[in-house]
Amino acid sequence: MSSVIVMNLIVIVLFYFYNILNIFAILPIMYANIESILDKVVQSHTLCEKEILYLLETKDTKKLFSAADEIRKKYSGDEVHLRALIEFSNYCKQNCLYCGLRRDNSHVTRYRVEPQDIIESARKAKNYGYKTIVLQSGEDSYYTVERMAKIISGIKDFDFVVTLSIGEKTFEEYKAYRDAGADRYLLRIETTDETLYNKLNPGMSLKNRMLCIENIKKLGYEVGSGIIAGLPGQTLESIAKDIVYLKSIPVDMAGIGPFIYHPDTPIENIKGDFFELSLKIITILRLLMPDINIPATTAMDTLNKEGRLIALQSGANVIMPSITETIYRKYYEIYPGKVCLGATPADCRYCIENKIKSINRRISTGKGFHIRQSGL
Ligand code: 5AD
Ligand code: SF4
Repeated sequence: MSSVIVMNLIVIVLFYFYNILNIFAILPIMYANIESILDKVVQSHTLCEKEILYLLETKDTKKLFSAADEIRKKYSGDEVHLRALIEFSNYCKQNCLYCGLRRDNSHVTRYRVEPQDIIESARKAKNYGYKTIVLQSGEDSYYTVERMAKIISGIKDFDFVVTLSIGEKTFEEYKAYRDAGADRYLLRIETTDETLYNKLNPGMSLKNRMLCIENIKKLGYEVGSGIIAGLPGQTLESIAKDIVYLKSIPVDMAGIGPFIYHPDTPIENIKGDFFELSLKIITILRLLMPDINIPATTAMDTLNKEGRLIALQSGANVIMPSITETIYRKYYEIYPGKVCLGATPADCRYCIENKIKSINRRISTGKGFHIRQSGL
């Protein structure tokens, strides 16, 4: 037999075995149902990508949401952790196609809060019983490492946990904030679909985003990440990969928000039920990582006025009430329709308390660090 024929035979045999193996790989999914997948994840807190996709596609959302609510109750209890959010600058040097704060949006009135005033907002928040301050802004170079370090240490003097959400920085910058006392860092991966990420975030790259998250982890921060659910061009397959990525880090906190179209951005306005999609992602994350912190994000309230409460009953255990001064709120328009624009920090504090009580949950008096439970 000539060597060409032998080679062809080998290729045919390999192809045959490859297909057989593939069939065996998808068989369990073909015969899977919501009950068997939920049983598996409740027992083992693991799922393969195909099973995650099955849950993302399911119409049987009631079972999914209540399974996540039970796991939340078992591992995090009924306490809701509050994180007081100060949106201290809406300047941003980046140009993400979906975001209202993008550099090229000339319709935004830009503002910056001076370091002393940020520290003063935090001091007032102490009186409302908050334990964590989240400092959020666009990527604004006005806040040099020295200025940020001064803000962080000024806030730490009031015995707060400090969370930063100020974008992509160098390892040295992340280290300097950590040395100044910052405890946690939020940096959403947004999407792990590299082509989509690089298209939606011009001048940025998924590789660098992932490197930033690795650096944050290396420096001993509690790591928060997450995605936008419903980005134009995003698929359920890519969301399943996002979930696998968040579990692989593994994150201490996962923030998921629905995409909300902003008319002053160049992105297309697509229709879809991103509220339900966000809830599904929250619930799957809760089932896979029972002890992490998961916020009921403010954007959920834009799509459903009970949105954050529904999220709290589907796996979430954190709320981030705004303590941004009322005069600035309407200018921090990442997406339109943000709730509580006319409210004061005091209004938000008491409104949130009432909402939490209305679903028989209570505000935590602890600092709300992620306590990794053994075996998870
Ligand atoms: N809709 C929903 N979320 C958005 N973000 C930015 N633009 C939008 C939008 N149009 C989210 C991003 C960012 C966070 C601060 O706000 O995930 O990380
Ligand atoms: Fe800037 Fe963040 Fe908006 Fe991107 S998503 S433009 S980095 S504020």
